[in-house]
Amino acid sequence: MAQRVVVTGASSGIGAATVRRFAARGWETVAVARRADRLHALAAETGAHPVVCDVTDEAQVAALAAEVAATGGATGLVNNAGGALGTESVEASSAEDWRRMFEVNVLGLRAVTAALLPVLRDGIRAGRAAGAGSAAGSGAEVGWPGWASILNVTSTAGHQVYAGGGGYNAAKFAAHAVTGVLRLELAGEPIRVMELAPGLVHTEEFTLNRLRGDAAAAAKPYEDVLPLRAEDVAAVLVDAFSQPPHVNQDLIVLRPVAQSSVFHTHRGPLEPRA
Ligand SMILES: NC(=O)c1ccc[n+]([C@@H]2O[C@H](COP(=O)([O-])OP(=O)(O)OC[C@H]3O[C@@H](n4cnc5c(N)ncnc54)[C@H](OP(=O)(O)O)[C@@H]3O)[C@@H](O)[C@H]2O)c1
Repeated sequence: MAQRVVVTGASSGIGAATVRRFAARGWETVAVARRADRLHALAAETGAHPVVCDVTDEAQVAALAAEVAATGGATGLVNNAGGALGTESVEASSAEDWRRMFEVNVLGLRAVTAALLPVLRDGIRAGRAAGAGSAAGSGAEVGWPGWASILNVTSTAGHQVYAGGGGYNAAKFAAHAVTGVLRLELAGEPIRVMELAPGLVHTEEFTLNRLRGDAAAAAKPYEDVLPLRAEDVAAVLVDAFSQPPHVNQDLIVLRPVAQSSVFHTHRGPLEPRA
């Protein structure tokens, strides 16, 4: 049985790069997002199975799970759909922005995970039925014919607060907490639960959406610095899935070398000291 991974937020940025990376490794993917045109272009390029789904809509998520099950099941889930809205202070921020951030970064993650867990368990059983060593990946090394992997893309904003981070910090801290809870609740099952917390990543839409379409302001964080690219994040993410299945990378924090903390980003060339 080949590994098949559901990737949410696949229509751009880290999610799209992740689908490409899995495809390059020969893994099957289900690419999930709201924008059908982008998903279909990605599907044509990579062979991904596209599913248009708003992860904040429980009925659409139930339909997603049914479609995944009906088209070959899954053994992996990447909860990547998410984003930030605004940089206002807690005092000046809007409840609507916070609601939308919680809906996609937290409630969407919950909904997709809950709906897909039974599908992942069926994938584990199918791997077992097919026999040891038949699964793609490295399970054969440790004699595990069936297992599943869940990885939640959070953020360094889910581990360190900053002024103007309010709703996004709160949502990503919550996503981090839910990841830990899930790992405890799934103990005893061959399901690993991982978290990838990126720092500064230059993707086409993340900051543009956060700053409500202000392209000049959105370009600023990436000026005079070499940030991570979506491809860098995808490479580390897919490597985590490619480890033997008894290896659980609980938390991967990934930053560009020029960013030593949320508060320290070096602008200009990196030079060895005299
Ligand atoms: N870029 C960074 O610096 C950075 C750093 C740390 C963490 N992250 C996190 O990494 C993840 C990906 O970020 P990115 O930089 O790749 O941003 P992005 O390019 O804006 O991608 C966000 C993805 O989520 C999808 N999405 C948003 N709302 C959705 C919904 N309700 N239902 C389904 N899909 C939805 C979007 O597609 P549709 O609009 O087509 O639905 C898009 O594919 C996010 O969780 C983000 O918080 C980003």
